[in-house]
Amino acid sequence: MPTSSDRAHPPVVPGPYRLWHGGDYNPEQWLHRPEILAEDMRLMPLAGINQASIGIFAWAALEPAPGDYRFDWLDATFDRLHAAGVGVLLATPTAARPRWLAEAHPEVMCTRRNGQRDANGGGRHNFCWSSPVFRERSAALIERMAERYAGHPALLGWHLSNEYCGSEDASRCYCAGCVAGFRAWLKQRYHDDLDALNRAWWTGFWSHSYQSWDQIRPDDHVIDGVMLNWHRWCSELVVDFARHEIAAIRRHSVKPVTTNWHGEIDGHDHGALARDLDVVSYDSYPDIDGSAGDRDSLAAHAFIVDAVRAHHRGRPWLLMESCPGQPQYKRVPRIKRPSVHRALSLAMVGHGADAICYFQWRAGRGGMEKMHGAVVMQDAPHDTHIFRQVAALGRDLTALSTVAGSAIPAEVAVVWDVESQWSRGWNSGLNHLPNPWALAKAAHRPLLETGIGVDVVDATAALDGYRVIIVAGVFLLRPGFAERLVAAAEAGAIVLIDALSAWVDEDVGCIAGGRPGPVLRPALGLRCEELDQLREDERIAVTAVDGWLPAGAQVVGHLDVVHADDCTVLARASGDFHDGRPLLTRRAHGRGALLYLAARLDGDGLGHLLRKLCAGAGVAPCLPAVPRGVFARERRQPERRFLFLVNPGDGVIEIPLDGKDWKDALSGASAGASVSLGGWDARVLVAPV
Ligand code: GAL
Repeated sequence: MPTSSDRAHPPVVPGPYRLWHGGDYNPEQWLHRPEILAEDMRLMPLAGINQASIGIFAWAALEPAPGDYRFDWLDATFDRLHAAGVGVLLATPTAARPRWLAEAHPEVMCTRRNGQRDANGGGRHNFCWSSPVFRERSAALIERMAERYAGHPALLGWHLSNEYCGSEDASRCYCAGCVAGFRAWLKQRYHDDLDALNRAWWTGFWSHSYQSWDQIRPDDHVIDGVMLNWHRWCSELVVDFARHEIAAIRRHSVKPVTTNWHGEIDGHDHGALARDLDVVSYDSYPDIDGSAGDRDSLAAHAFIVDAVRAHHRGRPWLLMESCPGQPQYKRVPRIKRPSVHRALSLAMVGHGADAICYFQWRAGRGGMEKMHGAVVMQDAPHDTHIFRQVAALGRDLTALSTVAGSAIPAEVAVVWDVESQWSRGWNSGLNHLPNPWALAKAAHRPLLETGIGVDVVDATAALDGYRVIIVAGVFLLRPGFAERLVAAAEAGAIVLIDALSAWVDEDVGCIAGGRPGPVLRPALGLRCEELDQLREDERIAVTAVDGWLPAGAQVVGHLDVVHADDCTVLARASGDFHDGRPLLTRRAHGRGALLYLAARLDGDGLGHLLRKLCAGAGVAPCLPAVPRGVFARERRQPERRFLFLVNPGDGVIEIPLDGKDWKDALSGASAGASVSLGGWDARVLVAPV
């Protein structure tokens, strides 16, 4: 049995290392069918399931009337799962509430931007983040759950609520209590100095200045400062709510805590929440079924999970939900073609997932998700394509348990920051240019396709240890971020900053003294004058020295007019109005350098530049030559390396290896000089370090 010294990281839960294979399990919806509950225990081991997330939407079953706690069914579920060898991730059931709670206290429901409070019974994920009653009632229940199950041998850990900010705009509640809290928070943030706030937010614009704190309303879209700070405050409320849940758990249990993130991780500041979690998790629903074009969806998805994981740098994360079939809400819920589920799941393990879990184990017979794919559909027979695919993956994950706890190396950071995302969202200007998400994703993809490990970090992340740092579309400079970029260059990093970064400060005011601001201007050795936004059909030719940009590269979309006062120009625009303008500059700084990319490039121009930067910085891909179309990722234990190779498309691709002693991690057979990967095939190789 391997010990923790064989591993880069401790197991998610103290005890044996394993990759989790499980999912949401809702036995409370099947209590009237004991034969189904018994069948679940027979089938889970057959499907290789070793984990179940329970209790997620079970508040009404756990407390059908105020203070009337019913744990009998949960006790029995714990015991049954334990006997079947399935560990329990116990959820706090706060993502939906029982009817009695909102009947007695309507204020627990979320108030929307138009002032309308959600009706009792409507939806889920729509409570008020600051409601004292909601907090009190939820803590009372959570504490009882923690007390009762802390010592149960099946308990793996805790699953906070479900997808905080999971429904449209419910990340922000506009009730009087939340707004009053916002004003009090602002008062503190601006040291009780309303004039300072007025200046920072430039409220003299259109006579929007405040004469009293009570005049501040969250929805004044003319003043960016109020918009951004409202988002910040609401995000802090989410984190504070999570802390409230964790505190109730911690009164009795020390087991790890996580919560399932989702979507484009911009409902709140995930970096802030990550600090309170023991492990980060993500719900994964990419549009992938085995069609042409899925390669793009997988690349887009890889970007998100590299961002999720990077919040706990280098450590594994949990893929908490995925659909073994297809969600009913997809535009075309086409059956996943054979081996797509396996390839997709192993790709996620390659990106650091130590769990592949599903929504859900067994679909319900009613409710709006009755047609959503699941491992087992309602009370239908389990002899299905999906069940067989899941069971086969379960066997693979068991055989790959030595992967659990391995590190996910990344020497390159691409910065994507939620505050830039938010502020560009309502900014008047730059509206036709790609947003921060698109820009960071465009920088991530060529690296992914080259087999270079990347972390997608936010602007608060520690930057030490990254050899290359790419700042693309970081519109807003959080306090200290520019200084940390310069310090990283000083320490040896190569920092590339693009023209859609460094526009505004933390109050969304234009950066002092003109772009790129007082810290980056001397470090880059340039100043920016004006951004030219090009017509869609416009292209500008490029000339570069030393092969910095590929022959034939062109500018598309935008070009920044910059003055290269104290830096080397590596590429210039050629022809027409912009003839001779600097497009790419470099200035050495300490042991590293800072580069400025003044324009967007068409085709593979950016990829070419990033690969050259990585090569120059000594960042090697996991294989010397990853063929086009293959996704290759590496994970590492102290004494062995794993290589995850996935071909998300049709046709056979031959992948040359690097002469190391690679073996197939499942069969143990020697891999030889190359691997041949068919469409939607995935291979895991292992070699000594
Ligand atoms: C997730 C959610 C689950 C379920 C699933 C359907 O976002 O957490 O409860 O609704 O979507 O795809």
